Amino acid sequence: MLHKNLGINENNHLTFCGYDTVELAKEYGTPVYVMDEDLIRENCRIYKTALERNFGKGSMPLYASKAFSCKKIYEIAKDEGLGCDVVSGGELYIAYKSGFDMNNVFFHGNNKTEKDIEFAMNCKLGYFVVDNNEELTEINKQAGERNIKQKILLRITPGIDPHTHKAIVTGSVDSKFGSAIETGQAMAIVKHALSFSNVELCGLHCHIGSQIFECEPFTDAAEIMIKFIKQIKDETGYETKILNLGGGMGVRYIEEDPIIDYGKNIDTIAEKIKAYASNNGITMPTILMEPGRSLVAAAGITLYTVGSVKEIPGFKKYVSIDGGMPDNPRYALYQSIYTCFLANKAGDKADYTCTVAGRCCESGDLIAENTKIANPVRGDILSVLCTGAYNYSMASNYNKLPRPPVVMVSKNKKYIAVAKESYEDLIRNDL
Ligand code: LLP
Repeated sequence: MLHKNLGINENNHLTFCGYDTVELAKEYGTPVYVMDEDLIRENCRIYKTALERNFGKGSMPLYASKAFSCKKIYEIAKDEGLGCDVVSGGELYIAYKSGFDMNNVFFHGNNKTEKDIEFAMNCKLGYFVVDNNEELTEINKQAGERNIKQKILLRITPGIDPHTHKAIVTGSVDSKFGSAIETGQAMAIVKHALSFSNVELCGLHCHIGSQIFECEPFTDAAEIMIKFIKQIKDETGYETKILNLGGGMGVRYIEEDPIIDYGKNIDTIAEKIKAYASNNGITMPTILMEPGRSLVAAAGITLYTVGSVKEIPGFKKYVSIDGGMPDNPRYALYQSIYTCFLANKAGDKADYTCTVAGRCCESGDLIAENTKIANPVRGDILSVLCTGAYNYSMASNYNKLPRPPVVMVSKNKKYIAVAKESYEDLIRNDL
């Protein structure tokens, strides 16, 4: 099985976190996102203990909540002692409403508006991760008006290509994010930040991409960042206290993907970082990481009901489900490959090669192509695995399909974390 929370029971049904997924589909209807709270918590602990073990207290994971954002997940992250990364006023609002400790919230984004900044300061946000000079100036201005010193990190682009999907590479020089070291803009913004009296420069941030399986891109980025930290110290005397290495560790979407031991990876990365710091004669900064996908992806599956099964002689076989790109746009956007399963025929031979299509009025509305499942008929339950990250959070109401509910399961309880949208919800804001 792709992940350890999956299994097959005596009824030949797929189980998830010990629950019969066919029963879950019956109880909550389809489509439905199901999330394994135990696995989320386990992943949080792996990151937290690995960072503390290697870098000491204060070094912690920040949950990159763009991966999956709702009140419950912030409660879990907080409960597990994580900080969090938000990327909009909306994510910040949900974190705030869930009771998250604002001191541990980091506000990202390459274009924070005046209103975002104001709202964040009203919430007593811990840190802005400042992307550019305009933003820096505005934060300093608003902090001055409040007579406070706002803590910030600066987003730096180390110029690393982590060999991942182009659309999600964000750390190379040509990027809309941050300031590049190579072009001199990074040093310029550091000096700019140090010249302001209402911001407190606490450190630097970089994020090199997503769905990365190797350690090298992270250690390469860390090496560049540490050299830069040394350069800053030499030129300005400023000692960087925090180095945030961003997120990006990969997850297993299909059997061919490697199994990653996140704790071990952090050990490997840490060893190098410590060596770089000592070689460059800098004091080890507090190291932060911002995992999103690797905390929640494998902790989620989506259950659908099969509708039409259409075979076009000489062409393809289409299996249509009662959801699609509105609840999972990742195939339509990135051709991301998923593992599909007929949950009610979990142990049957998967030798029916087909295209799993959504129900939208759009031919690109596909979830998988050339995927192999057991022989499907209308009414079967189709599960798509590893959908806990960037599915619910990227969901839309295209074709006015209400968003599915999110059901959380764990060994001893199951509950609805996000209710299913109703038709009423679809017109809530229509005047
Ligand atoms: N920190 C920053 C600044 C980020 O931009 C991201 C993701 C993360 C942390 C978390 O990265 P993760 O650990 O989840 O890889 N929608 C795309 C993914 C976009 C990722 C954007 N940034 C997808 O569905 O694959």
